Amino acid sequence: MTNAVTNDNRYFRTAVVPAAGMGTRFLPATKTVPKELLPVVDTPGIELVAGEAADSGANRLVIVTSPGKDGVVAHFVEDLVLESKLEASGKHHLLEKVRKAPGLLEVESVVQEQPLGLGHAVGCAESVLDDDEDAIAVLLPDDLVMPRGVLETMGRVRAKRGGTVLCAIDVPKEQVSAYGVFEVETVPDATNPDVLKVTGMVEKPAMEDAPSTYAAAGRYLLDRAIFDALRRIAPGAGGELQLTDAIALLIEEGHPVHVVVHRGSRHDLGNPGGYLRAAVDFALDSEEYGPSLREWLIDRLNQPSGE
Ligand code: G1P
Repeated sequence: MTNAVTNDNRYFRTAVVPAAGMGTRFLPATKTVPKELLPVVDTPGIELVAGEAADSGANRLVIVTSPGKDGVVAHFVEDLVLESKLEASGKHHLLEKVRKAPGLLEVESVVQEQPLGLGHAVGCAESVLDDDEDAIAVLLPDDLVMPRGVLETMGRVRAKRGGTVLCAIDVPKEQVSAYGVFEVETVPDATNPDVLKVTGMVEKPAMEDAPSTYAAAGRYLLDRAIFDALRRIAPGAGGELQLTDAIALLIEEGHPVHVVVHRGSRHDLGNPGGYLRAAVDFALDSEEYGPSLREWLIDRLNQPSGE
């Protein structure tokens, strides 16, 4: 059992990871390799996110894929032939790495037949939930939120205040239009000043219309009421069914929504620039690759550009 949170204080059992996108920003790599399997050093981004979900108490991962993206799910299936080869040749360190993803949690997939947006993708997961699951976690695999632990804080906030709890990061004003943005107010009786009440939410607003600089950072703890709201929204930003709009509808109807402001770091694996930063950040922390990468980087950065 790898889970850090025990069955008794688990705030949710199912973590949903939407992974149906085409990865257009990573073409040509994503012609044949799903974006979620691109390695951060040696580990696919989706395995890092699955590890976070398992650590925060989930025992089931529901991956929302699109037709033909089965490789994402295959990464979580045991490969007994590979494992026995590694075992026979004494490569125990690699064996441990290969066994990690299948051992994290139970993995299922649902197929989103058409690319109708993040809200629609999350809605596809409803069919596999048990009747007694009153909340789900959603983790966007483009977002690496570090250090881990924000989902547990979000779970405690939901246990205390009910409703839906989201993760926010404070972004520079000129970046707000890349995100879902929160309108917030302070919670008078909150002991944690990073817990705020959400009074509105808008997807990818123009900078001048943004209600704050608190942006959704790809971690959601959603009350089951979200599925009903998702059935009642119309296409929004980009012509897609937006999760943000379903949350905004719940807020309008009086459903409690809070954010936990994450003060650590976050990487955006959704574009090559952000992905490279994540890879360098993780590699610098690695015992195996860190020291020589650091040395090379310093040297490289001291060269005039273009050389
Ligand atoms: C999605 C969400 C947005 C959120 C962002 C975080 O947007 O729609 O609300 O702030 O992820 O990464 P996307 O980046 O998929 O366009």
